[in-house]
This record gives sequence, C-alpha cells and structure tokens, in this order.
Amino acid sequence: MAKIIVFTDLHIVPEGKTIIGLDPYERLLAGVEHALRIHPNADRIVCTGDLTNRGDADSYSRLKEILDRSHVPVRLLIGNHDERETFAQCFPDTPLDPKGFVQSAEDLGDWRMIYLDTLNAPPYVFPEAYSGYLCDSRMAWLEAQLAAAGDRKVAIFMHHPPHDIGFPGMDEIKLKNGAAFYDLIGRFGNVRHIVAGHVHRTISGAHRGVAYSVFKSPCHQQPMNLDSHDLSLSVDEPAAYGILLTTPHGMIVHTEDYQIAVANALSDQDALGAGADAAE
Ligand SMILES: [Fe+2]
Repeated sequence: MAKIIVFTDLHIVPEGKTIIGLDPYERLLAGVEHALRIHPNADRIVCTGDLTNRGDADSYSRLKEILDRSHVPVRLLIGNHDERETFAQCFPDTPLDPKGFVQSAEDLGDWRMIYLDTLNAPPYVFPEAYSGYLCDSRMAWLEAQLAAAGDRKVAIFMHHPPHDIGFPGMDEIKLKNGAAFYDLIGRFGNVRHIVAGHVHRTISGAHRGVAYSVFKSPCHQQPMNLDSHDLSLSVDEPAAYGILLTTPHGMIVHTEDYQIAVANALSDQDALGAGADAAE
C-alpha cells in the first residue's frame, strides 16, 4: 500500500502579497509541516498545479524553501497559473518528457502513477490559457505510458479536470479535449483513479466509469455556488490536503482540513480526566 499526500492550487505569491487576505506561503508551510508530522511514512507528496499565482521565479523559490523541508519525495505538476519555462528553471530536477512538458511516470508498488502537464500555453494569453489542453505530443506520451503499464493499475494526476464538475464557470475552463482523453484511456481500461485540482473544492465522483477526486487548496477556496459563472470569487474556508492510499483493489481517498485538526486527538481517558477536573 502506498500513501500519497496531495496538495493542489498552492498559489504561492511574492513575500508581502496575499490572496483575499490569506498568506499562501504560511498556509502551505503549515500544511506541509502538518502532513510530515502526521504522515512521516508517506511515499510521495504530489502538488497538482497552480504552484504559484503568477508563475514568477520569486514565488517558485519561496515554494522551494517549503518543499526542501520534506524528507518525503515530492512530485510537482503545473497548472494554468504557472509558467512552464520559469518553473523548469527553478526546479531543474523535475523530470520532463522528451518534448519538455512537465510529465513523468513512476511505479509505486503495483500501481503506475502518471503525472500530466495540462497547461495550455505558451502563448500565455488569457483567458484562453486558463483552460487545459493535451496536445498531440502529450497524448502520444500518455498513450505510451498506458501501454507500458501492462497489468498495473494506473492513477493519473492532472491539474485540469477532464470533465464537468458542476461549477459552470470552472466547467468552461476544464480540459478542452477531455472527450479525446477519455477515449484514449478507455482503450486501455487500466486507469482506476484520476486526481485533479483547479477547482479549489473537495469533489469526488466517476466519469465514464473512472473514479476521480479533486481537493481543496491550502489557501483560498471556491464558494459553493453551483449556479455561478463568476471565476473571480474565492472564500476563506479552511485549508486542506488529500491523502491517497493505494490497495490491490483500488484507491482509498481521505481529506484533511488541517487548520481545524491542529490538536492531537484526545483519548476517551483524556476526555474523562478533563471533564473530572472541570467538575471539581
Ligand atoms: Fe488554482
């Protein structure tokens, strides 16, 4: 069984900047420290894109400061708020595919983990580049990875959800060629779980029979308004990360609202003791 911690949509900003009054650096740092304390035996930390808010080198170096504290190996994906070239310069050890996309694969136990690059840029022209895209080159690379997986179960990590998730505004900037993506993975039948970000909410379900999970950000979250087309709204709900446990039969998915769960758990005995003290 492998344990994978998932952080998504970190949106690190230069020092002194905030997002809706929240400090992405402080919130991610608290989350990574929490995850390493509670899950020192994790096999990976995977960050599924929007590592920074503006794709600048200063923010990537601040992210590196945090991640360098981790004894757990880290895998980084990029999202629509990232800049591929600057990212690659700041994280030169990140594996790239032969065409320079931030894509890689590795086997953990009897699972193959595939990390995709869905950034629809360059050119970095917005709002077109907010949506995700897998070009022919990246689709061909994915096809080769799925073929090489053989009998292994496959988990795919990607920033953009490849299908609608129920927020109209976000559905307009999902992976543009999600249907082609599902046609491809359907030919192999070995993808058991898809993990995405982009939405800043905890979402789970299945699409064309493949289970998926989306997690909240360590920073700002998507308001729970299923009728809104407004992409500019954010809310300061508690920060979260995901915890994936692979099994021989599928994936167990947990989420941790680590700003709430900061205290160590009390035993029944502790609780009784506290109650007794209070009564005296
Ligand atoms: Fe994001």
